[in-house]
Amino acid sequence: MSKDASDVLVVGGGIIGLVTAWRAAQRGLRVRVVDPRPGGGAAQVAAGMLAAVTELHHGEQTLLGLNLESARRYPSFVGELEEASGQTVDYRACGTLAVALDADDRAHLRELHTLQQRSGLESVWLTGRECRRLEPMLAAGVRGGLRVDGDHQVDPRRLAAALVTACERAGVELRRGWAERLKVVGDRAAGAVLADGMTLAAGQVVLAGGSLSGRLAGVPDEVRPPVRPVKGQVLRLTVPPAYAPFLSRTVRAVVRGSQVYLVPRAGGELVVGATSEELGWDTTVTAGGVYELLRDAHELVPGITELPLTETRAGLRPCSPDNAPLLGPTALDGLSLATGHHRNGVLLTPVTGDVLAEVLVSGELPPEARDFSPSRFSPPQGPVQSSVRLEQPA
Ligand code: GLY
Repeated sequence: MSKDASDVLVVGGGIIGLVTAWRAAQRGLRVRVVDPRPGGGAAQVAAGMLAAVTELHHGEQTLLGLNLESARRYPSFVGELEEASGQTVDYRACGTLAVALDADDRAHLRELHTLQQRSGLESVWLTGRECRRLEPMLAAGVRGGLRVDGDHQVDPRRLAAALVTACERAGVELRRGWAERLKVVGDRAAGAVLADGMTLAAGQVVLAGGSLSGRLAGVPDEVRPPVRPVKGQVLRLTVPPAYAPFLSRTVRAVVRGSQVYLVPRAGGELVVGATSEELGWDTTVTAGGVYELLRDAHELVPGITELPLTETRAGLRPCSPDNAPLLGPTALDGLSLATGHHRNGVLLTPVTGDVLAEVLVSGELPPEARDFSPSRFSPPQGPVQSSVRLEQPA
């Protein structure tokens, strides 16, 4: 390996790439991250709900285990990150209230409650009146709800900023640029070639490019992550001090089949999300998307029409075929994945960092991540033969 090679090159500097880099550097590895804008990506759009229990879906019991494990690690992760960075990430252990507006919504919530109970999760069924007692701004028409005291929130923008600083302080090199091609030497990943032609050599490479993870040239087809973008439009409103506290916890519902959630931050920001659209790489904020979010949010909390609308934005969730992340080594030596987190990127940040650092140090996927190995999408095979031009060792 050349003298300026790092032990690890992380391709992608969103929160998943950064947490991987930070945790790996803490374990003594020399780490580089390549990204045009470290700390950018989907975290700049995400609302930051840590919704392991309220976003439970049939068929996702295995993912639930990982989600709960990451939620359990959040308080100590935040403590460590805030100390390392000297910044707050606005983690709020405030819980969530999922409510129903009509008979269909109510049936949907009852079904979710049954699934939660069968899964051993804590949630409490409330009448409409009890919901309004907790959150007086709720519409009079709310028919019932589920109080989930364990689903909290964090500010993903602050989380990203704190991870950038923690990485810098831990000695991670943040290289601003586009990784264009994986460098493969022999049958091993050995770095990346950037758009400006520079090569960054590394002993191991982690592909953590969010929704773009499947597009890095030079990744052999057998190990290319099957990740696609799922668009989410999100609004930000501001609660003036005179209206505070507007909401004291995350409030969410399924309205006419679409998810809507309102996430109140300590500083007065109110995040309203999110659409879920299969539109490829489109990140346009549309009148229709904004209209639907405001219409549904207004049905839940009519008072939002008084609030200044301060931002509209769209981002892309990196979605895998089973909605669960791809974590750990691939069949190409030296290449690991940390991608495909879909709706749970912010929630899964702590456990992803721990898992990838362990993989990079020991080569072993820890038990909590064994069900999320990228190999579940690969046909059984021997070592990967790269189909791209192989570079010879220098
Ligand atoms: N987890 C919330 C979302 O993806 O919209």
